Amino acid sequence: MASSRTGAPRIAVLISGRGSNMMSLIEAAAVPGFPGEIACVISNRPDAHGLNRAQACNIPVRAIDHMLFRDEAGKPDRAAFDAALDAALEAEEIDFVCLAGFMRLLTPGFTRKWQGRMINIHPALLPSFKGLHTHERALAEGVKIHGCTVHFVTPEMDVGPIIMQAAVPVLEGDTPEALGARVLRQEHVIYPAALRLVCEGRTRIDGSVVRVDEFELDAHALVVPPAAVG
Ligand code: GRF
Repeated sequence: MASSRTGAPRIAVLISGRGSNMMSLIEAAAVPGFPGEIACVISNRPDAHGLNRAQACNIPVRAIDHMLFRDEAGKPDRAAFDAALDAALEAEEIDFVCLAGFMRLLTPGFTRKWQGRMINIHPALLPSFKGLHTHERALAEGVKIHGCTVHFVTPEMDVGPIIMQAAVPVLEGDTPEALGARVLRQEHVIYPAALRLVCEGRTRIDGSVVRVDEFELDAHALVVPPAAVG
């Protein structure tokens, strides 16, 4: 593992858009004692609003525009994009990668290389509602409890070992926007908490299950694994 200048693990946050989860990670990591340092934010979209927000926090940013990576037939060249992404991560001596609304499928080669060191936040209680439009689909299915998941990334999308989940109720009259906002508030709670566990080396991957040592979290939702309230 590359060692950072301060000794804390170096984290890259990958985004494609507004970056609210990225901000929750930046804010958590700015608190003294957080066991990791946000070393850079990388977006596959140069116009991502999150890049401005990261820059305003003095976090180094990079845009690696996926549109520029095409094969001879003009088709998207995912391997070439991932090679550029990997080179950027290596140049920054990154230890852990956080996908935070990063809307690009990664190649199996890239995910295998970073397996165990790359995590993602998904706006549903996996393994339910993989993929996009999770809040619309949760409402259409009539589920009564919805939520979000932080998991290790594996080659198959939205499938890797689950680190932490938070649940929220689905309320009468909910719209996708209202439900999504309720879930997003919990995303901002569990993503920094899960990253902390990973940075502290307190997550052990046991097959498809993540074992987690006891930890503290001031949570107001159902959060599994249960936390001692600090
Ligand atoms: C979040 O809902 C996250 O769970 C999903 O994409 C959305 C990104 O939002 N993967 P933001 O850019 O973090 O605000």
